[in-house]
Amino acid sequence: MKILLSGICGFAGSNLAHGLLDLDSTLKITGVDNFSRAGSHLNIDPLRQRGVKLVHADLRSASDLDSIAAIDWIIDAAANPSVLAGIDGTTSSRQLLEHNLYGTVNLLELAKRYRAGFVLLSTSRVYSIRGLASIPVVVKNDAFAPDASKTLPPGVSPRGVTEAFSTTPPLSLYGSSKLASEAIALEYGETFEFPVWINRCGVLAGAGQFGRGDQGIFSFWINSYLRRKPLKYIGFDGAGHQTRDCLHPRDLLPVLEKQFASAETGKPRVVNFGGGMENSMSLAQLSKWCADRFGPHPVTSDAQPRPFDVPWLAMDSSLAGETWAWRPAQSLETILDEIARHAEANPRWLETSATL
Ligand SMILES: NC(=O)c1ccc[n+]([C@@H]2O[C@H](COP(=O)([O-])OP(=O)(O)OC[C@H]3O[C@@H](n4cnc5c(N)ncnc54)[C@H](O)[C@@H]3O)[C@@H](O)[C@H]2O)c1
Repeated sequence: MKILLSGICGFAGSNLAHGLLDLDSTLKITGVDNFSRAGSHLNIDPLRQRGVKLVHADLRSASDLDSIAAIDWIIDAAANPSVLAGIDGTTSSRQLLEHNLYGTVNLLELAKRYRAGFVLLSTSRVYSIRGLASIPVVVKNDAFAPDASKTLPPGVSPRGVTEAFSTTPPLSLYGSSKLASEAIALEYGETFEFPVWINRCGVLAGAGQFGRGDQGIFSFWINSYLRRKPLKYIGFDGAGHQTRDCLHPRDLLPVLEKQFASAETGKPRVVNFGGGMENSMSLAQLSKWCADRFGPHPVTSDAQPRPFDVPWLAMDSSLAGETWAWRPAQSLETILDEIARHAEANPRWLETSATL
């Protein structure tokens, strides 16, 4: 089988490429990347050593894909995944849409040409920020959790946020670029008759993730704490109670294998994949974890809210369980330990991950 993986030198893309080859070394994987992510070049040699064909291509430019030979499946893991992209002065809103939405359209044109299947790595950021902010929460063990004594909005269960949750803007420009990509991908699949799977992922984390405050928070926090860099709880009660779940990208491999083998239309096309409540943690809890491992380090506080931040978000992946017999395999503890070991071995990781 021949697979095209976009964003292959990114965190998710590189993990998926290595993981797919671990499962089946006969796979022919071609990867495209424009290396816009600082540090992504470090993944070139390890991927080449596994026999991956790397093409330096920018998805914004359709002709960069002209030389791609026939493939059976495309995994779209290229994006600017920052929730602050388009407003933080580093990327314009137009650029963000070019990378995240038009880039996906160019890949869909390729899928149409070869009748290839298409998997989009989408995000929990497609869910309404106003909706998420209105979920009643309480503080339990230093973390926000949904307040079960109050009526929860539609699409929130005790297990987290389901696919039925509101996607009404505001979502962030990032979130809306992904929601639009989802709709266009599903439309191409229906119109041109190729299978499309939308995997809506919660926060992804693991060793080698480029650590920045706006994206890759678990890696950023652990690397910053270890290197005694300034850390700050921003917004809400200023106490670091904001809570997210976390998933290792390699946990997506079993579902990808099943999706490749299935063109079946009876299954839901849009499914949540996340660490869930069991693999959730607040920043305050993460600091405690770091203190136990690395010793004390002060975290300051700024209660001034930041746009697009939400107090609590964990993914309810029940539909993934019913559809694909899937559940996250790697525990939060395993993921944090993996990140910490990588951070200890790479003293300059934060500089490597800094904006180009
Ligand atoms: N990291 C997360 O927490 C998370 C959560 C949910 C979904 N996702 C999705 O997973 C995918 C991968 O995210 P990631 O965390 O690995 O990000 P990443 O930044 O580590 O990887 C993205 C890769 O895409 C490349 N890229 C960006 N624009 C490109 C373009 N126009 N042409 C070619 N290559 C381009 C970058 O150079 C980078 O190597 C994204 O689509 C993102 O929306 C990520």
